[in-house]
Amino acid sequence: MTKDLLKGLNEHLKLEFRASHEYLAMSIWLSEHDLPGFATWMRKQSSDELLHAQRIIDHLVERDQKVALPAIAAPPMTWKSAEALCAHVLKNEQDVTASINELYAMAEKAKDRPGVVMLQWFVTEQMEEEAAARAVLGRIRLAGNTGVGLLMIDQELSGGAVPGMPAAPAGAA
Ligand code: FEO
Repeated sequence: MTKDLLKGLNEHLKLEFRASHEYLAMSIWLSEHDLPGFATWMRKQSSDELLHAQRIIDHLVERDQKVALPAIAAPPMTWKSAEALCAHVLKNEQDVTASINELYAMAEKAKDRPGVVMLQWFVTEQMEEEAAARAVLGRIRLAGNTGVGLLMIDQELSGGAVPGMPAAPAGAA
C-alpha cells in the first residue's frame, strides 16, 4: 500500500468515528424531544458508522499496515430543529462520500486492487446513506418541521416506511 493511501485511510477513520459520535448525540436529543422513530434511526446510523470504521481497520490489519486511531471531539448535544439535524446528517454523508471518492481514486492510481475492492463497498454504501438522509430531509420539508407532520414521519421511521430506511429492529426504542 502506498504511504498516501495509508495516510488517507487512517485520516478517513476520523470521519466515521466522528459521524458515529454525532449520530449518537443526535439520537439522544431526538429521544429527549419525543421523536423515538428518528432516535432509533440515528442510533442505528451511529452503530453503522462504527462498523464502517471497523471495516477499514480490518483491511489495514489484514494487510499488515499501521492503524492510527484518531481523537474525537465531543459532539454538539443540541439542535435547532429536526430539519437542521437532518440537514447536518446529509452534509456529513456528502463529506464522507467526497473522502471515499478521493481514496478510491488514490487506490486506482496506485493499482491497489485490494484497496479498490474494499472501497467499492463504501461507494455503494455512501450512495444509499445519502439517499436515505435526503429522503428523510425531503419528507420533513414536505410535511413540516413541527406538529403532526413531524409525528407522522417519526412513525414512518419507526416502521421503516421511508424509502431507503430499514425497519426498526424489534424491541428498539
Ligand atoms: Fe460511514 Fe455514513 O458514512
